[in-house]
Amino acid sequence: MKEILANRVKTLTPSSTLAITAKANELKAQGINVIGLGAGEPDFNTPQNIIDAAADSMNKGFTKYTPSGGLPALKDAIINKLERDNHLSYKRNEVIVGIGAKHILYTLFQVILNEGDEVIIPIPYWVSYPEQVKLAGGVPVYVESSSEQNYKISADQLRNAVTDKTKAVILNSPSNPSGMVYSKEELQALAAVAEEKDILIVSDEIYEKLLYNGLTHYSIAETSEDIKARTIVVNGVAKSHSMTGWRIGYAAGNVDIIKSMTDLASHSTSNPTTTSQYATIEAYNGPQDSVEEMRKAFEERLEIIYPKLNAIPGFRLVKPQGAFYFLPDVGEAAERTGYSSVDEFATALLTEANVAVIPGSGFGVPNAIRLSYATSLELLEEAVSRMEDFVKSKWQD
Ligand SMILES: Cc1ncc(COP(=O)(O)O)c(C=O)c1O
Repeated sequence: MKEILANRVKTLTPSSTLAITAKANELKAQGINVIGLGAGEPDFNTPQNIIDAAADSMNKGFTKYTPSGGLPALKDAIINKLERDNHLSYKRNEVIVGIGAKHILYTLFQVILNEGDEVIIPIPYWVSYPEQVKLAGGVPVYVESSSEQNYKISADQLRNAVTDKTKAVILNSPSNPSGMVYSKEELQALAAVAEEKDILIVSDEIYEKLLYNGLTHYSIAETSEDIKARTIVVNGVAKSHSMTGWRIGYAAGNVDIIKSMTDLASHSTSNPTTTSQYATIEAYNGPQDSVEEMRKAFEERLEIIYPKLNAIPGFRLVKPQGAFYFLPDVGEAAERTGYSSVDEFATALLTEANVAVIPGSGFGVPNAIRLSYATSLELLEEAVSRMEDFVKSKWQD
């Protein structure tokens, strides 16, 4: 038979985050008591007022197609949110609603990248950025940020990475997987480079609401009108309102980009699920107390678990400031326990200590593992003690 697959999917690697979760589920199905720290989603149910609004919309018969870029009422709710929380003002034609921030980003790269265009991606990165860029014909250009620099790139590093092929830089603050947050000053310095070099900024702000120790969110688009004009703000309700399964995300930015994304959506998805759009209207227009309650629960876990994790021999980590992940460097632990790579160490944690973690190699940091604290304190404490026992029992001086 002739080659059946297109070249563009030949180098595609499946999401490592989803792969480890599948493996953990397999073990669970065999009756093994696995604690999964791989999850990329809050462990709370969607707030009841949002569920009620969704049910209400269906009962009223709002079960048909909507405009491709989203319901006008939802765009208005998003516009109000961007004004209220981020001091950013947009018009309806500068906003598109899509099927989760993931698909919004996919669509965005499809409309802004020509073959060979470079996109700067700081390491560590969210697993889907490089694949999405490549699928759009773009070339990921990685910029290293070590744990010593708190996994954040500097303005000089960004400047040095720009070539005449650079189209955009992706920033994700708070970050998945590092939990690091860029300060306002750091973002302004990066923004100045984007302006100087005339490149777009893709600002993924999906973890905006999950900030700890009194930090507040700053969107790089707030820096100036010029910066706002070259920034596409990407956000959604998955992490803030515990709505991962509803699949609603959005982008706000340049009118031509938004129009092209909407045109592309009209041929690919038609529209984001109608019921989920009604749910999201309530998520943004209704009471926000549950957002803060969930944030507080994450912060409590962070405070309790961080010191315990840091105390495991061979684990080194900077305290996260946002999102719900730890990214310890476990290179030493892997070496001292006899594994030739952290990937192997992570597999052993799953099969021998029965704790599922994500190997950092998928995020560009092969010496690290990512652990999510989107699970109960009780399970987190048990997982940390299993990992500690595992490391101590195999430790060789
Ligand atoms: C950094 C980052 N961006 C985007 C997304 C996608 O979010 P959504 O569920 O809205 O597609 C995720 C989800 O894990 C994420 O971690």
